[in-house]
Amino acid sequence: MASPALISDTDQWKALQAHVGAIHKTHLRDLMADADRCKAMTAEFEGVFLDYARQQATTETVDKLFKLAEAAKLKEKIEKMFNGDKINSTENRSVLHVALRAPRDAVINSDGVNVVPKVWSVKDKIKQFSETFRSGSWVGATGKPLTNVVSVGIGGSFLGPLFVHTALQTDPEAAESAKGRQLRFLANVDPVDVARSIKDLDPETTLVVVVSKTFTTAETMLNARTIKEWIVSSLGPQAVSKHMIAVSTNLKLVKEFGIDPNNAFAFWDWVGGRYSVCSAVGVLPLSLQYGFPIVQKFLEGASSIDNHFRTASFEKNIPVLLGLLSVWNVSFLGYPARAILPYSQALEKLAPHIQQLSMESNGKGVSIDGVPLPYEAGEIDFGEPGTNGQHSFYQLIHQGRVIPCDFIGVIKSQQPVYLKGETVSNHDELMSNFFAQPDALAYGKTPEQLRSENVSENLIPHKTFKGNRPSLSFLLSSLSAYEIGQLLAIYEHRIAVQGFIWGINSFDQWGVELGKSLASRVRKQLHASRMEGKPVEGFNPSSASLLARYLAVEPSTPYDTTVLPKV
Ligand code: F6P
Repeated sequence: MASPALISDTDQWKALQAHVGAIHKTHLRDLMADADRCKAMTAEFEGVFLDYARQQATTETVDKLFKLAEAAKLKEKIEKMFNGDKINSTENRSVLHVALRAPRDAVINSDGVNVVPKVWSVKDKIKQFSETFRSGSWVGATGKPLTNVVSVGIGGSFLGPLFVHTALQTDPEAAESAKGRQLRFLANVDPVDVARSIKDLDPETTLVVVVSKTFTTAETMLNARTIKEWIVSSLGPQAVSKHMIAVSTNLKLVKEFGIDPNNAFAFWDWVGGRYSVCSAVGVLPLSLQYGFPIVQKFLEGASSIDNHFRTASFEKNIPVLLGLLSVWNVSFLGYPARAILPYSQALEKLAPHIQQLSMESNGKGVSIDGVPLPYEAGEIDFGEPGTNGQHSFYQLIHQGRVIPCDFIGVIKSQQPVYLKGETVSNHDELMSNFFAQPDALAYGKTPEQLRSENVSENLIPHKTFKGNRPSLSFLLSSLSAYEIGQLLAIYEHRIAVQGFIWGINSFDQWGVELGKSLASRVRKQLHASRMEGKPVEGFNPSSASLLARYLAVEPSTPYDTTVLPKV
């Protein structure tokens, strides 16, 4: 039987490969002089404006990318996702995070059953629970209302909610709703993270939400047991029902853990962990902090992009354009990384969330049919808010390696500040950098320019910027819950587009399993050595010697009594 076709075997892929030479002959300095090209390389939906004129691409490149999309059956793949087809074939699952933000009357089927009513029944339960909680009617074991929430979870059960929480914190409407409350996250199994998450909190006024799709993740379950102990040792075992609630697809294990099933909030296996922020994973802790109506606006923002993604023509479709340009940068121009550079401190946790979303989704070595890929898929995502990044790693981006950048700017700041007498407002100062950096990357600075500035000859090589470094710019009208939802969905769909073109399964994550199973072998060894004095056995010489060195030092905790953090 012939092996399934790879996208790299198609004429459309080869046409793009052949086109690279022509692009290498251009410089963004010249491409940017073409006003028609600049105008053509934009897209807008609601308040989201995308300018991709600073990509190393011409309108011909984009046309060729649309042809590649056709060859990859992108339209059909998008439809299959929205239709609930089991496109996550290695786990035999639908991929329906779009159903989590669909309107109440939408019909989205998985296994022939409309999932939208289930989604809304959980959202209704969250709305009711969060109203009771926030009104102070839900009281803890000692009769006090609870004002602090610690959300315990890792990976997709942490990064998306953290991103949204951080983005909402300084939005005036959200901040007003959150007055007097705290939402914290505990993710790492490091006891230092436990200490930081409960520092200065009183169990009497704290609610813990254990968030885990599987309810088996080693880090989350040990952290959950630790926080349970923190509550029980202070308030007694009966306090658990008032101070611990859960979000999971595995309600059986939630009950076995000792959490009241009435206080468990479900989601479903057709929601991937890293795509789960719009399920109870994010909606519950965020509603406890900000109230359900604000979270609903976030969901509506995401839903608006879902509609745009499904219905807009590819020429105007922001996630499609972004996904195709990323494929161009990675697979044809050979740039393996992407920098995510929001000019908004509120978006400081966007890059960590996109790291998981993108790298866990697209970091694959075989096609969806299991055929080894003759091309690289996935990319290395990293980022920091500008201008902090400018004073850190931008040096490399300007004069070292070529890293395509996403610049994200907001027209209206969440927190306007102006000092009378200053040249510009604080936000305009920030945005001056947002507008300047993409041009610095694109145009660079030539030796001739430097000479005309009388720069001494020995410094010319050091001060020269070759330019021709690609970026794209997003301009959002503002940054309220709605736009935060839009931004999230744009990245989710962009990453799916990349995976659909590369022909991989962007919705499984087998690559995380091997490390987990090796850690469990080490855990057994540490237990046997600590408890029974057993020697280290069955490891390679390097690991054996590292383990022996670790075990040679007395442990900082005795193994026969419970010890909790002291800060
Ligand atoms: O890191 C692997 C992973 O399975 C992620 O995909 C997931 O988001 C995370 O672990 C947490 O899993 P869970 O929500 O089941 O605890």
